[in-house]
Amino acid sequence: MYKKIVTEIRELPWAQYDPKKIIFLSLCSAIEFAESLRLALIAYPQNQNLGEMANGELKTNNLSYDDYATYGDHWEFLAHFCKKYDITDDSVGAKCFLAKEEYLQAVRSLDDNKARAMTIFSREQELPDIFHKIVEAHDWDALGLGFFKYYLERHIAIDSADGGHGDLTKSFQIDEEILFKFYTIRLNLYKSLHCIVTKSSDWDAVLQFTEQNPGKKIEGFLGSVPFPTMYGGQEYEIIAIDGEKYTARVDAAREFMSEGLEWKTLGKNRNGNIEQYYIVAWKLIEKS
Ligand SMILES: [Fe+2]
Repeated sequence: MYKKIVTEIRELPWAQYDPKKIIFLSLCSAIEFAESLRLALIAYPQNQNLGEMANGELKTNNLSYDDYATYGDHWEFLAHFCKKYDITDDSVGAKCFLAKEEYLQAVRSLDDNKARAMTIFSREQELPDIFHKIVEAHDWDALGLGFFKYYLERHIAIDSADGGHGDLTKSFQIDEEILFKFYTIRLNLYKSLHCIVTKSSDWDAVLQFTEQNPGKKIEGFLGSVPFPTMYGGQEYEIIAIDGEKYTARVDAAREFMSEGLEWKTLGKNRNGNIEQYYIVAWKLIEKS
């Protein structure tokens, strides 16, 4: 059931994800959204409701914030601020960048224009709840990224209003199988957010959690995501399942064991012996 995947996306540990990476992936999906919407207009050229909805998404001036007040697709609003705050392919790292490329490729390989259109209709119903969760996950204003909170809140308002985008597109038929495919692609995009902790404040929270909950896995740190190969050979501060802290070196050749539940790394324990660990959290040791 695609609704189950939607729920899974909504309940992702958004607060643990890097805010700038969340924005980066939003830009990626907003670019794809505009592309899919243009294909929807080709598939249903006579539909007035769809036309009205598209007027609120494409080449519109219904988003304005700070120094952005112009006509554009909604992704152009995000692109403007991503440029301003250096949220780029390079700054988010290889994992997010590759996830973006895979996402675009996977959505573009959906059957036809009607399938692409269907993802639009469904999104107008499902995204507001997901956006709510993302709004709550971070203090966007305090991070200096208030534009993103504005972007999400405007979308929630435009989609959920009486006669809004949700209402305008809800009469279109949807197909379980296509939407299951689409939301699975979308969930895979977000899996790239399960990543190395780079912020010291996050790291402190991890330490506190493992001290209080020995042996417990931390949502967002472990999953079916392998340790990025590009980090092979580098040194990490890690916390094993038993709560012990180690310095470890990732074995690039065999960093991934049995469906993501165990991560094979080489490291030295207190006695100086090389061991493999089941890791709950890790942080790259930056070499100056
Ligand atoms: Fe919308």
